[in-house]
Amino acid sequence: MSNKGEISSIAVEDGVGVLTIDSPPVNALGVAVRRALDEGIREMVQDTSVDAIILLCGGRTFFAGADISEFGKAPQVPLLPAVLEKIENCPKPLIAAMHGTALGGGYELALTCHYRIAAPSAKVGLPEVKLGLLPGAGGTQRLPRLVGPAMALDLIVKGDQVPAVQALQLGMIDAIAREGQLREDAIAYARAILAEGVPLRRIRDRNEKIAPDSFPADLFDTFRAANAASMRGFKAPGHIVQAIGASVRVPFDDGLLRERALFQELRASRESAAQRYYFFAEREAAKIAGNQKVSGPVPITSVGIVGGTAMGIDIAMAAADAGLAVTVIDIDTAAGGRARRSIADAYAAAVHDGRMTAEEVARLQDRIALADDPALLSASDLIVEFDEDPAEKQRIIRRLDAIVRTDTILATSGNTIDVEGMAVSCSRPERVVGMHFCASADAPRLVEAARCAVTSPEAIASAMHFVRRIGRVAVLTGPRRGFIANRIMSAMATQARAAIAEGSPPGLLEALLYDYGFPADHIQQISGTAFGDFDQYSTATDRTRQAPVDDEELLERLLLPVVNEGAKLLEEKGATRASDIDVVAILGYGWPVYRGGPMFWADEIGLPRVLSTLNELRARHGEAFRPSALLEEKVALGASFTRG
Ligand code: 3HC
Repeated sequence: MSNKGEISSIAVEDGVGVLTIDSPPVNALGVAVRRALDEGIREMVQDTSVDAIILLCGGRTFFAGADISEFGKAPQVPLLPAVLEKIENCPKPLIAAMHGTALGGGYELALTCHYRIAAPSAKVGLPEVKLGLLPGAGGTQRLPRLVGPAMALDLIVKGDQVPAVQALQLGMIDAIAREGQLREDAIAYARAILAEGVPLRRIRDRNEKIAPDSFPADLFDTFRAANAASMRGFKAPGHIVQAIGASVRVPFDDGLLRERALFQELRASRESAAQRYYFFAEREAAKIAGNQKVSGPVPITSVGIVGGTAMGIDIAMAAADAGLAVTVIDIDTAAGGRARRSIADAYAAAVHDGRMTAEEVARLQDRIALADDPALLSASDLIVEFDEDPAEKQRIIRRLDAIVRTDTILATSGNTIDVEGMAVSCSRPERVVGMHFCASADAPRLVEAARCAVTSPEAIASAMHFVRRIGRVAVLTGPRRGFIANRIMSAMATQARAAIAEGSPPGLLEALLYDYGFPADHIQQISGTAFGDFDQYSTATDRTRQAPVDDEELLERLLLPVVNEGAKLLEEKGATRASDIDVVAILGYGWPVYRGGPMFWADEIGLPRVLSTLNELRARHGEAFRPSALLEEKVALGASFTRG
């Protein structure tokens, strides 16, 4: 076995060469990995004792794609397309052995291999669309040749990860290994291929799935029309449709050139810059900034949920799904009757819709205990109360404080709670946190975690760790009532109300927000607060107005207070990072991700302009527009909110 530098090693077993790349955290295809691949393959092609080659990754995953942090920097050779060309044209059978997530450039690399085998728990996919990009290393040309253009459109425009079993059914992979036996099974698979002596298979040479008679002539137009709503405002999906369209129209190499040109256009676009910024912002939000020393989160293995509300049940089920032991206490009803019914109904629906099997449901239900006695929560590491009555919340937390383990973390949920007051009334103020589980219908992923001055860093780290474990995004906030989401968006709602009172039709405001990119249901959410009884006003298409106001000015009147309020939150330490405010606006209120959120957007239009417009609005409409001191300071220093 040769160890080729720090990130790659080669071993030859029974005539099969195994090139293992290990570049934490996710084996992104940065320049060092590309070099290691290039050199490793060259060495094994030259090695006469090697008849077939396996590409394997160490650590938690197969290649998770191109290294996103390299975008925008000068490209360094070898470039990914050159490495992939070498793989595809390798004279010996080359097999990708995948575990974890083979995504983006990582799965595109697998598509240039002659065969693909995966662990049963592996997932594959082309999620570039979520970064405002398209697969730029042949994915839009090779995947249609494997699964047909209709399925390729669906997979690449949605960007979802496909579990190994489904990937095998679709033809995205060729074989599934036994769990934990990927290396051994890949070697056996390679030996079987050699024994068969079949010629090398390259996806680029397979044209049967893209033959004109194998898909409807109007496939692309129909797809565009059917997905117009979800594609609205985004640049990448339209480019993806064009690239896949090229795969069925022009020869493979011309298709690759078309894909590259479209990829480069997207990579240079504002939309992709915003979406790539958001990718890192979401991950940054999970990190606890500041100088407080954190000894690491206390692992949470058991959770208590108090209150059988819809959100409580949702979180209980998500926790069970994440492998945690859950106890649900429904104090109001005998032996948790309401919760029992809701959970049974939700699981029955999941089985009915084919989202889960009866066995999976039985396994998850086993993890959830239902009761009506809070004393049963004594084993829980973290307890979240979901009562709807503010006075009752206070009482529940105090009662729990008196009966559960002293190291248990107590969390109170809601967005207008006085967490600080609640914490100091307990014997363990350092272990009391606030949590606002955002109830947005299409993106219930956001959880604001409130830290008070007395909260211990370990307790807040554990609570945020729990949120991530159940698949939500945690953002740290101060203990103020209203958290970040309500503070920033009520600034918009207040101005919407004022503009309407001055004669702007609500329909016009809605249309402006819609055109900016807010989804219709989120506008309803905002307008519910802003416009009151909406029925009495005109519809969203009504662009007439009573007051002579410029559209752009009106839009800025709605959006700039959000930026200003965000800056005030940063000033007051109610938010830690400008990017956290963007994550909250995007996940909580549907701020279009391709605009990066209010703070990123403000940097893009330029803070001097933001400041001068706020001052103009202040002269016209009053002190609500007084610019935050932080914004003034940033402008004076020539600094920005989100650009380092
Ligand atoms: N490039 C650079 N860094 C990456 C990365 C990538 N492709 N993918 C993940 N990372 C970083 C994250 O920023 C994070 O860094 P941090 O620890 O400093 O915050 C670290 O790796 C771990 O990532 P996660 O916290 O997201 O880890 P998870 O285990 O929760 O998820 C994952 C792993 C599913 C691989 C997830 O990270 C992910 O979805 N990554 C992006 C996948 C992707 O979009 N690939 C396509 C890239 S574009 C491309 O390939 C273009 C090509 O077509 C030419």
